Amino acid sequence: MSAPIDGALDAALGQGVELVVDAPDAVSMALVGEALATVLRAGDTVLLGGDLGAGKTTLTKGLASALGVAGPVTSPTFVLVHSYRTDRGFDLLHADVWRLEQLQEAIDLAIPELVEDGAAAVVEWGERAAPALDRECLRVVVDFSPVSPAPRGEEAGPGAEGPREVYIAPAGQSWAGRIGALRHALAARGLVMHPVGGGGEGGAR
Ligand SMILES: Nc1ncnc2c1ncn2[C@@H]1O[C@H](COP(=O)(O)OP(=O)(O)O)[C@@H](O)[C@H]1O
Ligand SMILES: [Mg+2]
Repeated sequence: MSAPIDGALDAALGQGVELVVDAPDAVSMALVGEALATVLRAGDTVLLGGDLGAGKTTLTKGLASALGVAGPVTSPTFVLVHSYRTDRGFDLLHADVWRLEQLQEAIDLAIPELVEDGAAAVVEWGERAAPALDRECLRVVVDFSPVSPAPRGEEAGPGAEGPREVYIAPAGQSWAGRIGALRHALAARGLVMHPVGGGGEGGAR
């Protein structure tokens, strides 16, 4: 489960990344989900990429909790999709897929009817590189930070403690129009954002 080649995020997200958020710990990752809840609407799809153990479910739990989902949010590993009642008047669908065919299945078959009927969907999938989707969605990729100083010699990797970065790329006008509000919600929770392009070396074109 080693990390893909450097640059995969660039290839995955291209010029689409609008926000890069630090998540130094699991609590921060949940706060990213909480911030996302402030802009999430019925009919939305969020595509959540990243390696096993990166923190996708942790983010989703923060999102669900902020939407008023009562009870535990667990990984829908064997059933593909869980559905939760929120206090926003729409249901939250949570899918977890790990292969392209399953992602395609979730996107093409299971999710759209329910989303069109007024649900919102979060789809976890176990890759960083998100395929181009021909529909509007928010693409979010959780990545182990490049310089994860694993404490006490722990290995970085699935389940390891250590900082993550969250890359956020809106696809379509609806999401593009909400990035400012999302940025505000992230900042209001004390989350630190970086310039797109990685910070140190010149960055975005
Ligand atoms: N900075 C961090 N962000 C998110 N999770 C973290 C972080 N540091 C440690 N963790 C832990 O890593 C694990 C992430 O698991 P999970 O959210 O299920 O990942 P995924 O759904 O991407 O496979 C959790 O046990 C979480 O507590
Ligand atoms: Mg998960």
